[in-house]
Amino acid sequence: MIRSALMNVMTAAAIKAGRGLKRDFGEVGALQVSVKGPGDFVSAADRRAEKTLFEELSKARPGYGFIMEESGRVEGADKTHTWIIDPLDGTTNFLHGLPVFAISVALEREGQLVAGLIYNPADDEMYVAERGQGAWLNNRRLRVASRRDLAESLVATGIPPLGRAKEHPRFKQDLSAVMAHVGNVRRAGAAALDLAYVAAGRYDAFWERGLHSWDIAAGIVLVREAGGFVTDLAGGSDMLARGSILAGNETMVKRLGDLLQGA
Ligand code: IPD
Repeated sequence: MIRSALMNVMTAAAIKAGRGLKRDFGEVGALQVSVKGPGDFVSAADRRAEKTLFEELSKARPGYGFIMEESGRVEGADKTHTWIIDPLDGTTNFLHGLPVFAISVALEREGQLVAGLIYNPADDEMYVAERGQGAWLNNRRLRVASRRDLAESLVATGIPPLGRAKEHPRFKQDLSAVMAHVGNVRRAGAAALDLAYVAAGRYDAFWERGLHSWDIAAGIVLVREAGGFVTDLAGGSDMLARGSILAGNETMVKRLGDLLQGA
C-alpha cells in the first residue's frame, strides 16, 4: 500500500465522493421503470461526485489546477500541478444498474503523470499508483499479465456508441484485425477500469480510440507502475492528446500495435 501524504489526500477524496455515488447507485434501479428514466438523476449524481472531489482536493492542495469531465478546465495559481478527473467513468453502466463504474483521479506534475487512483465504490476496489511506488489494489501489489501468446490472451476494448456512429467502420476494422488473433475480446464499458484490470493482470491488453484525458490518465500511471507499457494507436506516447490508447505487457503492446496499425 502507498502511504504517502499525496495518496492519503487522493484516497480520502475518492472515498467521500464514492459514498455518494454508492448511495445514488442504490436509487438507480428504482428509476429504471419510471417513464422519465434515470438520465437526469445520473447526471446529477455525476456532478455531485465531481463537486466533492473538487472541494476535497482544493482544500488539501490549494492552487492546483483541474481538468474535469463535467466542469472542464479550472486554472490554478500553481501552474505545475493539475488534477485530471472523471467523477463517474462508466456512466452508461451506472445508468443501467450495472456495478461497473469508477472514480478516476490522476495528478500531473510539470507535464508528467505522477499519481493515479481508480475506485469502484460498488465493489470497493481501490486501485492506486504513484510514480516509483508501484501499483496496488487495496493491499495487494499489482503486475500486468506476462502472457505473450496472443491466442491465449483476453483483450478489452471500447465500442463507440450510436451517437458516434461515424467511428463504427474504423472500430470494425480494428476489431476484425484483433479478433483474428487473440483468444477473445471484452467490452465492459468503463475505460478507467479496463486499464485498472490490465494493471491487475485480469486483461492481457486494452485498446480504444475516441477517449478523453480523464478516462485514461489515472489508468496510464497504474499500468506503467504495474510493469506494463502504454502507447497511443500511432505507436507514440501522446495518449492524452490523441485520445487513443493501447496498454499491456511489452509483447502484447508490440503485437497488437502492429495489428491495429495495419488494420
Ligand atoms: C466512457 C467509458 C467507456 C468508453 C467511452 C467513455 P464515461 O466514459 O470509459 O468505456 O468506451 O468512450 O466515454 O462517459 O462513462 O465517463
